Amino acid sequence: MFEEKPLITQSEIDSAMDFAVSQILACLPEFTTKFQKPYSENGFYHPIGNDDWTTGFWTGEIWLAYEWANDETLRRAAEIQVEDFLKRINEKHLVDHHDMGFLYTPSCVAAYKLTGSLHGREAAIKAADQLITRFHPIGEFIQAWGPMDEPENYRLIIDCLLNLPLLYWASEETGDPKYHDIAEKHLHTAMANVIREDASTWHTFFFDMKTGAPDHGATCQGYRDASAWARGQAWGVYGSAMAYRYTKEPRYIESFERVLGYYLEHLPSDMVPFWDLCFTDGDDQPRDSSSASIAACGLLEMAKYVDADRAAQYTKLAKQMMKALYDNYAVKDPALSNGLVLHSTYSNHSPYNTCRHEGVDECNSWGDYFYMEALTRLSKDWNPYW
Ligand code: GLY
Repeated sequence: MFEEKPLITQSEIDSAMDFAVSQILACLPEFTTKFQKPYSENGFYHPIGNDDWTTGFWTGEIWLAYEWANDETLRRAAEIQVEDFLKRINEKHLVDHHDMGFLYTPSCVAAYKLTGSLHGREAAIKAADQLITRFHPIGEFIQAWGPMDEPENYRLIIDCLLNLPLLYWASEETGDPKYHDIAEKHLHTAMANVIREDASTWHTFFFDMKTGAPDHGATCQGYRDASAWARGQAWGVYGSAMAYRYTKEPRYIESFERVLGYYLEHLPSDMVPFWDLCFTDGDDQPRDSSSASIAACGLLEMAKYVDADRAAQYTKLAKQMMKALYDNYAVKDPALSNGLVLHSTYSNHSPYNTCRHEGVDECNSWGDYFYMEALTRLSKDWNPYW
């Protein structure tokens, strides 16, 4: 389908990563004791406290920059942030939701894996303890948001597939199987329910609170319930690769191929999706460039587990996606943005969805983080934080 599209070269990857490091170093005076808001405004991130579900991506960017440049300034800044993550979980500050993996994996698990940080390890294990408090044995899933005793909140969301690696890691690290067991139960429930017949995905899926029976799918950030929110589909691509990595169940390779197939078939000609896959070339709608980086990471993760031909095909697709981002979406001029990748969409309100309207056609911190992760994966045999 995209056979002839150009591939990113190693020298382009080098220049993208060198630029990312220079942007991050330039941001450190403002964003060491502070974090980035989830999205930029007119291209620029503003500082916030460690108050949102997204702050771990900024610390993750600093760690990826440290891996690339080996600059102690970066390590010191990331370590200051790890202390803040420990404080956040100790104080239970805004942690009553499922995004513990997004918060604590690229920040604190990364710190532990890269430097042996014991505070990173402690914070991440406490975050895993917090995450499992949201598990519902009735229905066998981790509830995404809201109070645990309300039928209108009795749901999981596809994004949570990326919160599970924190639990697998916590079991490996502590020897206590409880995190692994909950991750596995949630994973099987999610994979059985979020992928539709045609391989598009539900953003969120509700269960009956009394019986745990699957009830219905709905969107929050997609255009409408039955459409496919681009980032949800991309979380599904990366999440299916993670599902296989952790369980080694062949059915998850099949899930990966189906979800990826739907994603690819609904891409516009430049391989960077609009915010919902129901839109395509010619539609006057914003893109979500972060989905392209997330999908590329999923492809590169799955390339490790399949035969050589398929691995080459997945790697080629990832390189094509990253080339499109590098050529036409990446920030090249620091005067125009303090982020890395433009034209991403956090939440685009539509007449049919329930999300706030924010961060539309801007940089966002996970878009920047996964852009760097994909470039890093293409550069070496990367030891994943996830
Ligand atoms: N996990 C929330 C989002 O992708 O916007």
